[in-house]
Amino acid sequence: MTRPIVPSLMASKRWLLLCLLLPLPFFAVPSITGRGIRLELTHVDARGSLAGADRVRRAAERSHRRVNGLLAAATAPSAPTLRSDDGGGGPVTAAAAVHASTATYLVDLAIGTPPLALTAVLDTGSDLIWTQCDAPCRRCFPQPAPLYAPARSATYANLSCGSKLCEALPSPRSSRCSAPEPGCAYYYSYGDGSSTDGVLATDAFTFSAAATVHGLAFGCGTDNLGGTDNSSGLVGMGRGPLSLVSQLGVTRFSYCFTPFNDTTTSSPLFLGSSARLSPAAKSTPFLLNPAGPRRSSYYYLSLEGITIGDTLLPIDPAVFQLTASGRGGIIIDSGTTFTALEERAFVVLARAVAARVARPLASGAHLGLSLCFAAPEGRAPDAVGVPRLVLHFDGADMELPRASVVVEDKVAGVACLGVVSARGMSVLGSMQQQNMHFLYDIERDLLSFEPAKCSDL
Ligand SMILES: *[C@@H]1O[C@H](CO)[C@@H](O)[C@H](O)[C@H]1NC(C)=O
Ligand SMILES: *[C@@H]1O[C@H](CO)[C@@H](O)[C@H](O)[C@H]1NC(C)=O
Ligand SMILES: *[C@@H]1O[C@H](CO)[C@@H](O)[C@H](O)[C@H]1NC(C)=O
Repeated sequence: MTRPIVPSLMASKRWLLLCLLLPLPFFAVPSITGRGIRLELTHVDARGSLAGADRVRRAAERSHRRVNGLLAAATAPSAPTLRSDDGGGGPVTAAAAVHASTATYLVDLAIGTPPLALTAVLDTGSDLIWTQCDAPCRRCFPQPAPLYAPARSATYANLSCGSKLCEALPSPRSSRCSAPEPGCAYYYSYGDGSSTDGVLATDAFTFSAAATVHGLAFGCGTDNLGGTDNSSGLVGMGRGPLSLVSQLGVTRFSYCFTPFNDTTTSSPLFLGSSARLSPAAKSTPFLLNPAGPRRSSYYYLSLEGITIGDTLLPIDPAVFQLTASGRGGIIIDSGTTFTALEERAFVVLARAVAARVARPLASGAHLGLSLCFAAPEGRAPDAVGVPRLVLHFDGADMELPRASVVVEDKVAGVACLGVVSARGMSVLGSMQQQNMHFLYDIERDLLSFEPAKCSDL
């Protein structure tokens, strides 16, 4: 826990310096967040009509797609290959297959002056904040609210090509600044095939009645692919300079997800000083991806082992480690529902669970989950006794309550392990984070957590 994490400290110092050099509007930011901001996160399914088995199946499908997306983004070559420079045709490669955005939580905010309501996907796995933009829009996917139009906002401003945040964009500077217009063009693609293309701008964002933040940089997207569960854009919460957390300069944020089977209660997100846990909370360090800053948007953790019942599972710890070239590892993510374990670990866990549950195996194919048991005759599926599960992170054991491990299909009478298998990396998903308050301490590069009743926070 006290291990010094030199590179990231240096990175945050550099970022602090950068903040001091930013133009005036940014100075308004810390005074507003001094009191902290509370936001409500809505599960994507809460606004849809799916229930029971359909919801579980969709969550499993999305988890797989999300993990593949995270993996694709982490292992993509440094040179952008999909940039559309044809002035209207869009990406020319296989990106023509359009996938929905696969993050899980939505947040309501407002943009501009006067404020225009905006529902955005909250994404701890990427940095950019963006919304579909009528500037005019060349290609926008359907969204429930009216499009944001720069011309109708008194506080809209273009970001120049030489600005620090323009330079923080992932693609090379040359391709942006050679454009005929002097603005900061961006193209940002997601591993799931969705993308947004437009100019980087600044405007006021309103997070609640009491919190308006001026001069936040965001992507005004005029060519957008993918989309989205009734959202109009995305708010990146990753570790890079463009994310909301970095731009606000908050030293910490926290969230607490209400249970997966509760689709009506929202989950609180706290930004800044309102994010706090009790002294009993446990902490584990965030790791940086050694392959460089571009791959360090993710919140990597150090997972050292898994215990089921009283048995430490025979999993080679290397399975969860980041390699020197930046592959593998495990991240904590808000956009993945079911935890994805690297296949070699998943197989060991699934065998151990199967050996300890005294119920016949059942098919979970209709749910998209691979280890399921038949519920006892005439009794609720939760009578299937799954032993306790403990994730051993560096410096902190995370004991998962039973409700975070088992998903049920009451109609079919089956109970399944709410974990999926993945190849290439592992992801701690929101199902396994439910009813646990997680604090991301950005200043100290620590993840802290403690059990909580999220609906009461
Ligand atoms: C979008 O919202 C509408 C109305 O609020 C709802 O009927 C619909 O199911 C939602 N769609 C999704 C994909 O959540
Ligand atoms: C922003 O830049 C675009 C051209 O890229 C221009 O048409 C527009 O007027 C500019 N808006 C402002 C507010 O400067
Ligand atoms: C959700 O699951 C928990 C644990 O299995 C159960 O106690 C609770 O009643 C369920 N809630 C709903 C809304 O189904």
